[in-house]
Amino acid sequence: MNASRLWPERLRLGVNIDHVATIRNARGGDHPDPVRAAEIVASVGGDGITAHLREDRRHIRDGDLSRIQTATGLPLNLEMAATDEMLEIALAHAPHAACIVPEKREERTTEGGLDAAGMHNRLAPIVTRLTDAGIRVSLFIEAEERQIEAAMKLGAPVVEFHTGEYANATGEERARELKRIADMAALAAKNGIEPHAGHGLTYDNVQPIAAIPQLAELNIGHYLIGEAVFVGLENAVRRMRELMDEAR
Ligand code: PXP
Repeated sequence: MNASRLWPERLRLGVNIDHVATIRNARGGDHPDPVRAAEIVASVGGDGITAHLREDRRHIRDGDLSRIQTATGLPLNLEMAATDEMLEIALAHAPHAACIVPEKREERTTEGGLDAAGMHNRLAPIVTRLTDAGIRVSLFIEAEERQIEAAMKLGAPVVEFHTGEYANATGEERARELKRIADMAALAAKNGIEPHAGHGLTYDNVQPIAAIPQLAELNIGHYLIGEAVFVGLENAVRRMRELMDEAR
């Protein structure tokens, strides 16, 4: 999105294929191959592939990255912890985007956003080196004003709002979470930062998020891969796309 334009034309869908690799790794072989999932996502109009190379390599592995990058023309959004190891890997692979996420070894998934405000000194050189290499940096943060301010100070062009609390909430609490994300999307866009969102999004909860006009991209993984078991990945991605388009 052009930073001067506040409304992106189309909400992009990035599909996180980590959990295809989780299933593959359960048996230690090559099947199912996340690269095949990337090809399917490309064939049904997905806008990007997201993959998180975790420290423990529990799903995507180093060797998957270049195979994913060469399999389709889709941009790769590499989710990475703010570590020297991941920085070197990102620089070696030069993905379209790098989304910096918090990472705890013991967590089941990425629980909560990055404390961009508290980690300024750690993040600054990483953001600079990624940016200098032409990689679009995104920070996976909670939808909070101080985190957006921190992203501005760091010069990150993109923030991704963690929608986990929204996804887990019900009733009035969910409405409050939604408003928080909508308000912060507006604030980010007003300040020239492109807002994205993701985590825990499903067919049932995606539409209010997709209706937030400033959001440019949603990254969705676990639900789509789970749904693919029943209806196939093509159909799952198509259905999510339809719901997102209907919401705009
Ligand atoms: N965006 C980011 C930055 C993430 O870390 C994740 C989970 O890995 C997602 C989006 C996708 O979340 P989910 O798998 O719950 O759809």
